[in-house]
Amino acid sequence: MNILAVESSCDETAVAIVQDGRKVLTDCIASQVDLHRIYGGVVPEIASRMHIEAIYGLADQALAKTGLSRQDIDAIAVTYAPGLIGAVLVGVNFAKAAAMALNKPLIPVHHIRGHIAANYIAYPELKPPFLCLVVSGGHTMIVDVQDYTKMEILGTTLDDAAGECFDKVGRVLGMPYPGGAALDKAASTGDDTKYTLPRSKPGVNPYDMSFSGLKTAALNLIHHNEQVGEELDINSLCASFCSAVSDTLVPRVVMALEQTGYKKLAVAGGVAANSRIRRDILYAAEKLGAEVYLPPLSLCGDNAAMIGAQGYYEYLAGNVADMSLNAFATKSIIGETI
Ligand code: KG4
Ligand code: ZN
Repeated sequence: MNILAVESSCDETAVAIVQDGRKVLTDCIASQVDLHRIYGGVVPEIASRMHIEAIYGLADQALAKTGLSRQDIDAIAVTYAPGLIGAVLVGVNFAKAAAMALNKPLIPVHHIRGHIAANYIAYPELKPPFLCLVVSGGHTMIVDVQDYTKMEILGTTLDDAAGECFDKVGRVLGMPYPGGAALDKAASTGDDTKYTLPRSKPGVNPYDMSFSGLKTAALNLIHHNEQVGEELDINSLCASFCSAVSDTLVPRVVMALEQTGYKKLAVAGGVAANSRIRRDILYAAEKLGAEVYLPPLSLCGDNAAMIGAQGYYEYLAGNVADMSLNAFATKSIIGETI
């Protein structure tokens, strides 16, 4: 089954064609990051306009690259939540028009379910159930993936997402938006013990976590150094920050693996590209004898291939929409699709 998949929830317009949920025939991405960088973050209005400009051309490009015709497409999958509402609406409306014109099923896909599904592309042998650590710009949670479309959230951030903190700290350090990748690179030559930063303590739900205290502590440290004229060792601050984020995530994942008994752990989302987190996860899981699924960097960030992968399983589960499909800025990954 050839699914034409559309992703436009933030600052990447993407169209992919994915066969049977696992084989990516093409994944075309038009990134707007350079445009938003001038403003230090995503400007929603600019994002929506750029999606409109890019989306038709990308769909044509996807067909041209695969040599497929419109008639070879069996269904249209689209991110319908969560994201910047104007941005998501562009993808949803495009997908509705395409589904109607081609008379093919329309499959709504939750963006975070898509991130999890990036692992199905990277690891064709991976099947639920498994545990998944989702770490993106807007979400941070530990998910029990019981089946392709049935999940339970074991724990989540109570305030900021990990990616949000990376971006905020990166911005204050003068790094280009989005700060995560630059911060990660700077950390590689820093001393992670040089600065003491807080780790959130387990709360009522031991799987829940918090990042706002860590973010504030890092920002205070930067400002304090500035005010007293002390030179900041930026690389070491980045290394200390990455270590604090990882120390917040990894022990909770270990606890979840131990308590659920899962021997399979997947990681998903843009922050899954972080080298410190990847290293610590691999080390911790190995000690538990658990298999780790880490998508390649190209599948960690936003892309449409992951939407096509999840779209296939949503279709098999009967989760198709009609022309009344709406877009949502927020929506849980659990429960009814629409
Ligand atoms: O999943 P994603 O592409 O978009 C959302 O769905 O939010 O995640 C984007 C986030 C940004 O906050 C970005 O700074 C972060 O992923 N990120 C990283 C790295 N690469 C991207 N954070 C830490 N280390 C990285 N190497
Ligand atoms: Zn994303």
